Amino acid sequence: MMRPVDIRKSVSESYARAVENTRTAGGCCGGPACDATLAALAGYSREALATLPADAVASSFGCGNPVALAEIREGDTVLDLGSGAGIDLLLAAKLAGPRGRVIGVDMTPAMIERARANAAAAGLDNVEVRQGIIEDLPVEAASIDLVLSNCVINLSPEKERVFSEIHRVLRPGGRFSIADMVAEPLPDWMRAEGLLYSACVAGAIPEDAYVEGLKEAGLIDVAVRDRLVYDEAQLRALLDTEAAGACCCGSASLPREKLDRVVRELAGKVSSVRVTGRKPIQVGP
Ligand SMILES: C[S@@+](CC[C@H](N)C(=O)[O-])C[C@H]1O[C@@H](n2cnc3c(N)ncnc32)[C@H](O)[C@@H]1O
Repeated sequence: MMRPVDIRKSVSESYARAVENTRTAGGCCGGPACDATLAALAGYSREALATLPADAVASSFGCGNPVALAEIREGDTVLDLGSGAGIDLLLAAKLAGPRGRVIGVDMTPAMIERARANAAAAGLDNVEVRQGIIEDLPVEAASIDLVLSNCVINLSPEKERVFSEIHRVLRPGGRFSIADMVAEPLPDWMRAEGLLYSACVAGAIPEDAYVEGLKEAGLIDVAVRDRLVYDEAQLRALLDTEAAGACCCGSASLPREKLDRVVRELAGKVSSVRVTGRKPIQVGP
């Protein structure tokens, strides 16, 4: 059984490699075929993507568009958990405007550097990126209007801590909008596959456990707003980094036979969901 600290280290190394690959390979999601996959799978409009620096799009590793359902208001203070190279930070920063503030937290230095460079390239000075873990956020209690997260909490070995951190940092009445992977219980051999963990599959928990975890942390109005159940082709696009135009979530590269088996067995059992909810205005009796 790996310790949480070792799981985080392995995930972080995997994403440092993945973001570095976007420089050399022109982007996980850089090809025209994958642009279409990205837009379809993640739900970003082409118009919104066109307003961002190309690197922020090519270095995106999300599985949904948490900004779309977030109803960001001018002046909002927004926090993005696992902000990566910054795609959602930048979209949120434009909507929050100069009176608003957007804070990203990520544990991987290469991602933080990339997000800061992308914010500078976009000319946005209301974006701040902090190094830290989402299980112990470097963020003041009750200071955030909106928490976003895109394809990150599935990677946490301590999801209860993350859910309770969301509750801690939100102001009373503050909202959250999360895109993430969920999965039916997977066989042990898949759970133990490190590459599938970093690829946002093996750490995913069932949808009802995810919703329950958020509610147990004290969050309310928790609702799954939409869901994309991955078929074989979509799973292959997610996991097969060797296929031309593969739109990977991490940097998994499984032997071909194993990959085929994973894709066959997981089709229909893994989904990306968008979940929203809020912290009650009055906490406690
Ligand atoms: C799948 S990528 C998603 C990045 C970004 N949200 C996006 O949509 O492009 C996962 C990101 O979460 C970060 N991450 C994973 N687990 C984390 C943790 N426990 N604490 C902080 N960051 C974490 C990784 O470093 C990586 O940048």
